[in-house]
Amino acid sequence: MKRSFSIIGCGRAGLSFTKYLFKAGYPPAGFSSRSLESANLAAELIGFKGKVSTNPSDVIGDADIVLITTPDHVIRETAEKIAGHGGMKPDVMVFHCSGALSSDELSALKGANAKTGSIHPLQSFGSLDSGKNPFKGIMVGIEGDRECVDAAWKMAKDLGATPFQIQTSGKMLYHAAAVVASNYLVTLLKFAIDLLGESGVESDNRFEILKPLIMGTLSNIENAGAEEALTGPIRRGDTAIVKAHLEAIEESSPGMSALYKMLGQYTVEIAYSGKSISSDIRDELLSILNE
Ligand SMILES: NC(=O)c1ccc[n+]([C@@H]2O[C@H](COP(=O)([O-])OP(=O)(O)OC[C@H]3O[C@@H](n4cnc5c(N)ncnc54)[C@H](OP(=O)(O)O)[C@@H]3O)[C@@H](O)[C@H]2O)c1
Repeated sequence: MKRSFSIIGCGRAGLSFTKYLFKAGYPPAGFSSRSLESANLAAELIGFKGKVSTNPSDVIGDADIVLITTPDHVIRETAEKIAGHGGMKPDVMVFHCSGALSSDELSALKGANAKTGSIHPLQSFGSLDSGKNPFKGIMVGIEGDRECVDAAWKMAKDLGATPFQIQTSGKMLYHAAAVVASNYLVTLLKFAIDLLGESGVESDNRFEILKPLIMGTLSNIENAGAEEALTGPIRRGDTAIVKAHLEAIEESSPGMSALYKMLGQYTVEIAYSGKSISSDIRDELLSILNE
């Protein structure tokens, strides 16, 4: 028998958990949201006829698992509210789904004898209309009390995802890693697309020109690691080309040279630690990139 679950905060993440936990055989125990409309939407999604309320404390009494899927900034006050009210099962497990915050955000619940954890799907939840399980094949970061880690591990697998454990104290850096990999990749590729435009390449879709290079690089990182995947003038120790790049960027898009320099300095260290360049070349490259 799977554990029963209640959802507090019936938005994108909350509705996705509702639909796919139910599909995986987890019985629902109640739904709460700021608006009754959203809570009803979650209940209707799975044909649930039980407890629905704007007060989270009304819907958690029968739950083995409570998922707080409110925005991050109201997780702590929601935890304090339900801890103050009490009335939960003695072995209840309460999770939130934030990537940046740890289970410490739920500390008020420790006094109410609840076990706490966080379960963070590395996914951007969109509309449920596609009918595609958004958990299938994704990674889910988990931390918290032992019982919560075990239960979340099982939940993630039942949802079709792959769980992995993170340190509670490392949660913010874990989230920074996800932001760099996803959001800053967007920034990096926009930088490259803009430079291509400045170079005079005329195309409606400059990404398509860079795409095989990008996909090949990703594949090389996957197969051989970042140091081995690095190619180009820094790996070759070609100081004259790096200098010439900077001059060209400063002439066409002066605002972007600081970004090129910062990325270049980091790249020099990758090349040096991969033993592609000597310490003299490293110093020469760093002095060009620090000018
Ligand atoms: N969306 C994603 O791709 C994603 C991915 C991974 C993790 N997460 C995490 O999941 C959590 C929810 O994010 P989301 O994107 O699903 O947000 P969202 O779509 O904005 O949904 C948040 C829901 O919480 C409800 N809410 C707001 N304040 C509340 C309160 N004080 N009490 C009860 N309910 C309240 C909202 O209510 P009403 O609709 O009733 O007004 C809304 O339905 C966050 O911790 C986020 O970091 C999200």
